[in-house]
Amino acid sequence: MATSTAPARAARKGPPSILLKTVVAVTGVFFILFVLVHMYGNLMILSGPEAFDEYAHHLRTFGEPMLPERGLLWVARIGLLASVLLHIWASMTLWRRAGSARSSRYAAKPKTSYGTFYAKAMRWGGLALLAFVVFHILHFTTQTVTIAGEHASPAERVITSFGVWWAVLIYAVAMVFLGMHLLHGVWGAAMTLGLNTSLQRAEQIRFVSILLATIVVVGFLIPPFAILFGFIE
Ligand code: HEM
Repeated sequence: MATSTAPARAARKGPPSILLKTVVAVTGVFFILFVLVHMYGNLMILSGPEAFDEYAHHLRTFGEPMLPERGLLWVARIGLLASVLLHIWASMTLWRRAGSARSSRYAAKPKTSYGTFYAKAMRWGGLALLAFVVFHILHFTTQTVTIAGEHASPAERVITSFGVWWAVLIYAVAMVFLGMHLLHGVWGAAMTLGLNTSLQRAEQIRFVSILLATIVVVGFLIPPFAILFGFIE
């Protein structure tokens, strides 16, 4: 029987791995819902700048006067921030555990397999997405980063930004990372939540993950490219 070494035991202190995986899966499902709603909201710009501004205004005033201005927005922001922190903490802990288990158990480095490729893609891709989200908030929410001048209306900010080719490129690359993260993330979450019960079910999960990733990537990229190519002004 394999006995674990001191570093491996130390790394395994803390919550059980299945609990951490459940945290990653549940917060991941929450992100998927957010991303779908956000993507749908962005597509409003296809109906014109006024429709988009009205939608942005509605997000801030939803539930008034029962809720204060931006009340729902703040509930969503706090929920998202808590989920991001939990998702990162749980996946980083699992990442560290996987690393220490390997170095203590194998004399030789294990051969690269699809498993390790996906694990690496999820970890580094996840960090790239985090960097994108920080940039994105500095760009559209706090407007610390201005790409094509300052604009009072949300629609104008979007339209002027995506008239700049490199802004479209940054967002396009980020959406490819998002698609890859979703592709494998949906699969991983389904495994953790015990949905993968048969071969047929595995096929269905694969299909759903491909469909979801495609919808999200294409849906998010329609507005920037439509703006870049002059379909929305
Ligand atoms: C092409 C892709 C995207 C576009 C064009 C876009 C556009 C926008 C815009 C215009 C806003 C500001 C809304 C407003 O001022 O009312 C915003 C906010 C935000 N977006 Fe995106 N977004 C994209 C992708 C994403 C992705 C992939 C994520 C997360 C994974 C994300 C997360 C957020 C967050 C957290 C906010 C801040 C909401 C707030 O606190 O006010 N966005 N986005």
